[in-house]
Amino acid sequence: MEESLRWLHALMIVCLLFSSRLGYVWAHGDGLVDQPLSKIGVHNIVVELDDSVSVNAYPPILGLEGQDTEWVTVNIEHPNPDKNDWVGVFSPAKFDGSTCWPSGDPKKQSPYVCTAPIKYKFATDSNSGYTKTGKSCLKFQLINQRADFAFALFSGGIWNPKLVAISNKISFSNPKAPLYPRLAQGKSWDEMTVTWTSGYNIDEAVPFVEWARDGEPSKQSPAGTLTFDKNSMCGGPARSVGWRDPGFIHTSFLKDLWPNTVYTYRVAHRLCNNEIVWGKNYTFKSSPFPGEDSLQRVIIFGDMGKAERDGSNEYSNYQPGSLNTTDQLIKDLRNYDIVFHIGDITYSNGYLSQWDQFTAQVEPIAATVPYMIASGNHERDWPNSGSFYDGEDSGGECGVPAETMFFVPAENRAKFWYKTDYGMFRFCIADSEHDWREGTEQYKFIEECLSTVDRRKQPWLIFSAHRPLGYSSNQWYGEEGSFEEPMGRELTEPLAEIQGRYCILWTCAQL
Ligand SMILES: *[C@@H]1O[C@H](CO)[C@@H](O)[C@H](O)[C@H]1NC(C)=O
Ligand SMILES: *[C@@H]1O[C@H](CO)[C@@H](O)[C@H](O)[C@H]1NC(C)=O
Repeated sequence: MEESLRWLHALMIVCLLFSSRLGYVWAHGDGLVDQPLSKIGVHNIVVELDDSVSVNAYPPILGLEGQDTEWVTVNIEHPNPDKNDWVGVFSPAKFDGSTCWPSGDPKKQSPYVCTAPIKYKFATDSNSGYTKTGKSCLKFQLINQRADFAFALFSGGIWNPKLVAISNKISFSNPKAPLYPRLAQGKSWDEMTVTWTSGYNIDEAVPFVEWARDGEPSKQSPAGTLTFDKNSMCGGPARSVGWRDPGFIHTSFLKDLWPNTVYTYRVAHRLCNNEIVWGKNYTFKSSPFPGEDSLQRVIIFGDMGKAERDGSNEYSNYQPGSLNTTDQLIKDLRNYDIVFHIGDITYSNGYLSQWDQFTAQVEPIAATVPYMIASGNHERDWPNSGSFYDGEDSGGECGVPAETMFFVPAENRAKFWYKTDYGMFRFCIADSEHDWREGTEQYKFIEECLSTVDRRKQPWLIFSAHRPLGYSSNQWYGEEGSFEEPMGRELTEPLAEIQGRYCILWTCAQL
């Protein structure tokens, strides 16, 4: 009886094993879809500034009431409009050749522009009359990404762009504001980590989290600060046109939490003059005690991606479903306690601006429940960079943004495997982009994670990784007659030794 109650009480696992991207591929059947920013021929940009063309953006200052997201209006007037005219949003606003790498070839001029916009829209977007009137009014939703913005009008389409006009600059009132907090389980069950992004380095302000249990005096905990530079990218576009400064990423460790308890918190920076810049207030519920028999609800999914709510980047062609998924998860926030996003996080594919946009998209979720990620091919894979697979799916990121932007309780975050306990669950999260064959460090970790769980206290043992174990329905494995990922069956032995109930979850095919 007690046993059955325990199960009844228990645990709702919702596995959303779908992919917005896969949906697209099924619908169109034409293989891979590209990151929309990769369709822009940044290296082909030529400058033909034309005084008769104007681009104006307003309001000039955003976030006057502390908002981190704002709508901006961009008015265009062009005496010779064309349906291929488009507007790129650049941030920082100064995007000319002064930020370029030297061309190396003396016969070739240095490129005029060498960073991709953070997003773009065609001038005809919601203004079909543009080709006749030469007037367009575009709406963009911008998030605070630590730098100012300029809007550039190009003719000639996105592959052979001619820069004809640049707008005034606009900016958030505090571009450095601390933003997009994301929670993750710490290394022990009674520790919650808070990670966020800001423009404040440690020589300018001291990052910390203020937090409190209901009705108790608040505490402050310090945060560590990380960042990374272009040289830690493994190749292009992350190292070239896709590069954008990631800001500073801070993580604080809230320790000795009481089980199942609601805490409020806010992130902050203390400036040299002792003034404090605060983030917003949030609440979270701490983890149950390991083995505790209470209602514990888990959501596991992968391959979500991001999209722009303003329709930028021709969003209906890339990952519109990611917004539907995000919105549904926000609506259901009261109905689950922890999230696992097991790989393929942003599909930024080397366009680093997309990481801020992703953390903004999931903020309502990640700031409220632990948002635990795993590494996928789109985070990690790059030739000769230590990934097990030699594909170029990470666009040169080779795991660095993923392991810096999100905390995971791994021994070494470059090796993206970890265990975490949550009440009646033990999660063993493996890293399918690193070798896990017998004899490897990761194999030892997996064996250890599976064998050290007390199955009486934690009947739910979840093994999860991005790529499928066992077999894969992915077309190209089928074509070569293998029906499995190369390491798909390497873990048969440790998994077969598990006694009792367990669950193995992965996301879908490697797109
Ligand atoms: C956030 O919480 C703190 C501490 O309880 C409070 O002083 C502050 O006014 C709150 N801020 C907002 C914006 O509600
Ligand atoms: C996703 O959201 C869009 C925009 O709100 C909506 O038009 C569309 O029907 C949604 N798709 C699904 C499958 O719910």
